[in-house]
Amino acid sequence: MEEIIDIHTHITPNVDDGARDMEMSLEMLRNEVAQDCKRVVLTPHSSAFEWGGPENVKHTYEQMERVQKEAAREGISVQVFTGCEIYTTRRNIEEILQDLNSGRLPSMNHTRYILAEFSTSRGTMDDAKYCLTRYLESGWIPIIAHAERYYRTFTTVENIRALKKMGCFVQANYYDLDEEHDEEIRTCTQSLVEAELVDMMGSDAHRIGHRPPKLMRGVGYIRENCREEYAENILWRNAEKYLKL
Ligand SMILES: [Fe+2]
Repeated sequence: MEEIIDIHTHITPNVDDGARDMEMSLEMLRNEVAQDCKRVVLTPHSSAFEWGGPENVKHTYEQMERVQKEAAREGISVQVFTGCEIYTTRRNIEEILQDLNSGRLPSMNHTRYILAEFSTSRGTMDDAKYCLTRYLESGWIPIIAHAERYYRTFTTVENIRALKKMGCFVQANYYDLDEEHDEEIRTCTQSLVEAELVDMMGSDAHRIGHRPPKLMRGVGYIRENCREEYAENILWRNAEKYLKL
């Protein structure tokens, strides 16, 4: 089995700082398929659903639907699923829970799993724990988006282990394993994967020129350095199983 899954992308056109237009979205999807990734979750930033009125929210949902239709029309053999990368703070957590409960914010492929992003420069382990507990208490299962990127605030192997014990899941970026120029991020990603604390992988792809979908070197790193069973789990099996992809 060579196939992989990407659970974190900004491929939806013209809704956030990701793909500019449909042409770019389709190019990014072709890119994913060329790297053996045929299942992709669209995860626009939560602001795309929260800012502006109902018209804006509707626009974001419509754009996600259009991506699947256009990809099929272009003959790109990819399955696209809906989701959201939810920027989470102590200040906005109650509002987020309301928006999740009302359906204004989408969960990951209509499951109880959600992708939670935190500030990379502010906040503490206490803050992260508080917010993640609120998700869990409310029946949502948080997947911590690119956990390695919070190495300045709360991510250590021990802290992530503790958060997983509470019931949280962990996503890491393919790119951060081997290509990221910030050595601390690279080292942090590698230590999380080596400690088998990561559950699912994503590209966090934004555009063609800026942060394009880069999966292959990360996949290579995982296949070379991890137990085979764990590698398959984080490359596709967990995402398929938990997110029903
Ligand atoms: Fe992202």
